[in-house]
Amino acid sequence: MRRISLTVNGVKHEAMVEPRQLLVYFLREQLGLTGTNVGCDTSTCGACTILVNGKSIKSCTMLAVQAEGAEVSTIEGLAKDGTMHPLQKAFHETHALQCGYCTPGMIMAALDLINNNGDLSEDDIRIGLEGNLCRCTGYHNIVKAIQQASSEMHAPAST
Ligand code: FES
Ligand code: FES
Repeated sequence: MRRISLTVNGVKHEAMVEPRQLLVYFLREQLGLTGTNVGCDTSTCGACTILVNGKSIKSCTMLAVQAEGAEVSTIEGLAKDGTMHPLQKAFHETHALQCGYCTPGMIMAALDLINNNGDLSEDDIRIGLEGNLCRCTGYHNIVKAIQQASSEMHAPAST
């Protein structure tokens, strides 16, 4: 077993983990953060996408020990004081989910895309999300949701 310390959604954690444990299972089973889903376990579907130090990664491709010292964000950390994040609100308002299985990963991948780019065209969004699969095939509304959230998040702050 190895001791790791990391910050998840702003909360510091110290834990003992098996060196072979994947980060996604550490989040789900040790921290109880089950919003991060496992769809394939083979880095294909993107359901397990989270942010590590501000960049989206598929948490089934990373070992928990590799997250030593990292700042991790999962879907559970997005809403603040009961208010949905603009991406969550946009997915809700544009009906960008059906079964919802891919949704946490889609939103975390979109968050990286929006945070680290300027205005996003439809093509930018489709290319940016090519690692995230929706088995309900609801891509059209997912793109609309991300465009809506991107406009809101990049809008100048009102005075
Ligand atoms: S579970 Fe990680 S990419 Fe599918
Ligand atoms: S909404 Fe069902 S997998 Fe995407």
